[in-house]
Amino acid sequence: MRAMVYRGPYRIRVEDKPRPIIEHPNDAIVKVTRAAICGSDLHLYHGMMPDTRVGTTFGHEFIGAVEEVGSSVRTLQPGDRVMVPFNIFCGTCFFCARGLFANCHNVNPNATAVGGIYGYSHTCGGYDGGQAEYVRVPFADVGPSLIPDWMDDEDAVLLTDAVATGYFGAQLGNIHEGDVVVVFGAGPVGLAAAMSSWLMGAGRVIVIDHLEYRLAKARSFAHAETYNFTEHADVVVLLKKLTDHLGADVAIDAVGAEADGNLLQHVTAAKLKLQGGSPVALNWAIDSVRKGGTVSVMGAYGPMFSAVKFGDAMNKGLTLRMNQCPVKRQWPRLFEHVRNGYLKPSELVTHRIPLEHIAEGYHIFSAKLDGCIKPLVVPENA
Ligand SMILES: NC(=O)c1ccc[n+]([C@@H]2O[C@H](COP(=O)([O-])OP(=O)(O)OC[C@H]3O[C@@H](n4cnc5c(N)ncnc54)[C@H](O)[C@@H]3O)[C@@H](O)[C@H]2O)c1
Ligand SMILES: [Zn+2]
Ligand SMILES: [Zn+2]
Repeated sequence: MRAMVYRGPYRIRVEDKPRPIIEHPNDAIVKVTRAAICGSDLHLYHGMMPDTRVGTTFGHEFIGAVEEVGSSVRTLQPGDRVMVPFNIFCGTCFFCARGLFANCHNVNPNATAVGGIYGYSHTCGGYDGGQAEYVRVPFADVGPSLIPDWMDDEDAVLLTDAVATGYFGAQLGNIHEGDVVVVFGAGPVGLAAAMSSWLMGAGRVIVIDHLEYRLAKARSFAHAETYNFTEHADVVVLLKKLTDHLGADVAIDAVGAEADGNLLQHVTAAKLKLQGGSPVALNWAIDSVRKGGTVSVMGAYGPMFSAVKFGDAMNKGLTLRMNQCPVKRQWPRLFEHVRNGYLKPSELVTHRIPLEHIAEGYHIFSAKLDGCIKPLVVPENA
């Protein structure tokens, strides 16, 4: 089959690879019809994620048609259209039983902190991902769901990560009616978090980024008030001024480890790798939320330390909440929001890139060229 293959930082190729086979009776092989490139894939692409091995295939957002099922699979049949959450999870361990699907204890022999994620380095289990013609889906009775007849493919693929994660970010914000919510980052996750904040009762939604075209999308897609942090000497002071000098009730970090806006943080994180990611947006979130407020962290950070303003968070009495999104837990409510027209995930899609040209897709998305917000990947025979 044809598959995206990692060759080293900033080096992506499409190569022939053996088609995956059933390795366990509860596996399925899925023929990918749409995949996406996630902001998290950029951390891999930039060489930020430990144990990203040459030869692996990325891609944790994908939908497809079931090609083959193992002997114990009961819920799927060849030909079924399925959406597959980015988490690989067993459904029965201590953590899965508590809905912590992203923290499954049975799917990742390489780490205890994080569970399994398709195409996301050996740190996250070493599974090959869906930026390929075919992908092996373990625990096929547990993760995938049938795509409802009424749902568009492009809405479905965005629900396998970006939109579910944005929704989860708003959920962890513990938003009360009328709250002021500030979202850092106007990528797909931040845009979905901003839109979801309204669905959870926010009274005001503010989005911060430095890319004008993305701030424009935050206004049109998420009806948010927007500010470009490069146009203000201090974005925290700006946010205080906008909120009666108290601060926002809730702040959502939808930026993560590669945040811009502070040269020292950038150099120590991205260049010298002295921290597990630059916490610029996270520190802005801690500083700009009011005392007693909540900070929800969706942005991804690597293992080990980051220079986070923990003492300020402690002394302000903040609630900090975070996780990789347990995607499938969000689906029942998200399906209703999409069906009722409150949310149209596919409005985030700006590019549809043939699998053969995926290297160009990574470059455009990484360099934020051509108005790129969310690139989809389309295998040739999809
Ligand atoms: N927790 C999860 O389950 C989960 C799932 C998906 C993605 N993520 C993470 O969420 C983050 C966002 O993903 P995405 O796909 O939207 O990525 P993206 O790269 O498209 O978007 C990030 C945005 O942040 C902006 N930005 C950079 N520095 C900033 C700053 N200091 N303040 C405000 N904005 C800033 C960038 O300009 C960009 O628009 C990534 O770190 C990704 O790894 C986490
Ligand atoms: Zn992702
Ligand atoms: Zn489990």
